[in-house]
Amino acid sequence: MSGFAYINGVLHADGVALTSIADAVGTPTYVYSSTILERNYRNYEMAFGGQNLGIHFALKANSNLAVVGLLGRFGAGADIVSLGELKRALAAGIPASKIVFSGVGKTREELTAAVLAGVAQINVESEPELDVLDQVAREAGRRQRIALRVNPDVDARTHEKISTGKRGDKFGIAYNDVISVYRRAAGLAGLEPIGLALHIGSQLIDLTPYKNAYLKIAGLVQEMRGQGLSVTALDLGGGIGITYKDESPPSLEEYATIVCDTVGNLGCRLAIEPGRSIVATAGVLLSRVVYRKSGASNDILILDAGMNDLIRPSMYGAYHPIQPVVQPASGATLTEIDVVGPVCETGDTFARARLLPPLYADDLVVFGAAGAYCSSMSSTYNARPLAAEVLVQNDRFDVVRSRQKVEAMFANEHIPDWLGQIARDDETVVRKRA
Ligand code: LLP
Repeated sequence: MSGFAYINGVLHADGVALTSIADAVGTPTYVYSSTILERNYRNYEMAFGGQNLGIHFALKANSNLAVVGLLGRFGAGADIVSLGELKRALAAGIPASKIVFSGVGKTREELTAAVLAGVAQINVESEPELDVLDQVAREAGRRQRIALRVNPDVDARTHEKISTGKRGDKFGIAYNDVISVYRRAAGLAGLEPIGLALHIGSQLIDLTPYKNAYLKIAGLVQEMRGQGLSVTALDLGGGIGITYKDESPPSLEEYATIVCDTVGNLGCRLAIEPGRSIVATAGVLLSRVVYRKSGASNDILILDAGMNDLIRPSMYGAYHPIQPVVQPASGATLTEIDVVGPVCETGDTFARARLLPPLYADDLVVFGAAGAYCSSMSSTYNARPLAAEVLVQNDRFDVVRSRQKVEAMFANEHIPDWLGQIARDDETVVRKRA
């Protein structure tokens, strides 16, 4: 059995019952299916079959070492945006020669580490960054391959918080400035400009913005070549959107056709940086109902997972499917329930008036499509430890991140000596009074 499905009335991840994971590891726990991870990755390979395409998994979607390591085993490279992600990618076994470094605010320290590690490409987003990188590379005695990230001024028609390619967004170099910055980069001893990069947004359901952006890039490449500049690599940004509720994303074949039709004949080495569409559907967040109580209009289901574990509903108004782990009886009545977490703010609401079968304290539920931007965006707000993570392969599973110990959360905090003194003084006062 592969993926998430009911077997004998219990929801399984591949061949493992989620009830046994909850028993062994507790909740909340992220559970990932190796089968779906592999399928999602191979789908990209197949859709672009035959083309010279680099697939760099965007670690920001999920940077668990086991997840990244598994994708690396399939042949994926990595798209990283921080020193932390660089270290994670390397620790997961992704060779530096398959790592692309993106991001609008890379520090000198981060650039130095990337250059010294020998990353394949750094996508530069501004002239000041260009100068710092040139200096860093020269100091290291290297010539760093770079691409310039272009802001193509295209509306990705996605959630405003994850739209990145419009004029005025903080990302990339303005379309009209790209050629002059590229020419300048070509004259810097520490840098070897090889091409252009773009990323217009995430969770794209409509391919038209991609098409428009790629056409603009193709035009730019031709203009640059006309001016004697060498452009041999194009990084086309993140992957396509997925279905959380009722979205109908394009197929990868349709996406590949757009790529082929727009930039396929330029003779460039192409790369993409998908995150969400590789890992989202490969993961669920497993959680237990703590209480069910009656509310003003609907009953309220209070889970042991909170907005610190899964912030997307609170942050983007995102929808995640919720389903019980024990399959409801056929014909079970569905009622509208509010589903919330234990965190002390109303924003910690996963769903309002969600139609669900009967669910009560101690029942297990999962949030679907939770493999991307869920665990990687989690926090310890309310001093709640980071959830455990489990990777399933066929009928075995491994805890690939153990639940954070509460003490580990504050192990690097420190009470100043003088505060300790105040505490002792207070204690003495209290004791004297008594
Ligand atoms: N490359 C770059 C430069 C990016 O900024 C991103 C995502 C990707 C690749 C991967 O895009 P994808 O294939 O996942 O669409 N936290 C938000 C998503 C933020 C995406 C930011 N950039 C969410 O939960 O929806």
